[in-house]
Amino acid sequence: MPGMFKKVMYKALGRNPWRESDPDDFILRLRSSVIGEGMLHSGNIYLMEKAVREMPVGGCLLEIGSYGGLSANLLTYFLQKYNRSEQLFCCDAWLYEGYHDAESGPTPWMDGRKDVLRTDFMNHIKNSFISSCRLLSAQTLPKAIHIDSDSFFESWAATNFETDVFGRQITLGGAISFAYIDGNHAYKYAKRDFENTDKYLLPGGFVLLDDSARHLSFGSVTLAIELCKHPQYELVLENPNFLFRKKPA
Ligand SMILES: C[S@@+](CC[C@H](N)C(=O)[O-])C[C@H]1O[C@@H](n2cnc3c(N)ncnc32)[C@H](O)[C@@H]1O
Repeated sequence: MPGMFKKVMYKALGRNPWRESDPDDFILRLRSSVIGEGMLHSGNIYLMEKAVREMPVGGCLLEIGSYGGLSANLLTYFLQKYNRSEQLFCCDAWLYEGYHDAESGPTPWMDGRKDVLRTDFMNHIKNSFISSCRLLSAQTLPKAIHIDSDSFFESWAATNFETDVFGRQITLGGAISFAYIDGNHAYKYAKRDFENTDKYLLPGGFVLLDDSARHLSFGSVTLAIELCKHPQYELVLENPNFLFRKKPA
């Protein structure tokens, strides 16, 4: 069915034009409990569930951009739900991105306030990540590093030891089965995150690009459209963000 017609039809029926996971009480509660509600498209939940169920064994899950832990706690929930033993690694620089930084440059303040520092705001978000994971993912805490994604991949390549946000010493490196790329959505960053992921992604492994839906104006959309022509990748679904699978070797 052509995309536009499908959208109009679904709207008339009062339904979303993308696929959604079956109702799940925990996911419903999670979305209203952990910071980041507006950042997780319901179509992504469907895509993540599919990727966790179908990803190849032998690698880990990687999340670039964790914010307050909404998607990280969802991913650990899916790992448990589908009895997958893969480890979730997360990296986030916990950087504040102001609404008007591009036009007027960054300020020290949170958007719309002159009494809340951006650094304090982001400490609050990082602490929320830590406390939500301790509560909801206690059995399988993600290995979460406070670092930008370029430095994370440098450390990954060097199989370095790092201290994670829970104070544990962890070793980086190894194969990846599924990567959720949700850090900086500007083209050059998203592309580098993809290229770095690609080095370690197993054949049959998944890449989900957040904020890549065609109607958005992020660099991740340009990247997603480019990847549709990548000889080693197949588009699994636009829902409306793009999920790709690395073709078997
Ligand atoms: C949209 S939020 C992530 C939301 C999260 N995945 C969720 O659904 O709950 C984007 C995050 O990417 C982080 N970020 C931005 N640039 C980054 C970079 N170069 N490396 C790592 N993280 C980055 C920001 O600090 C922010 O927390």
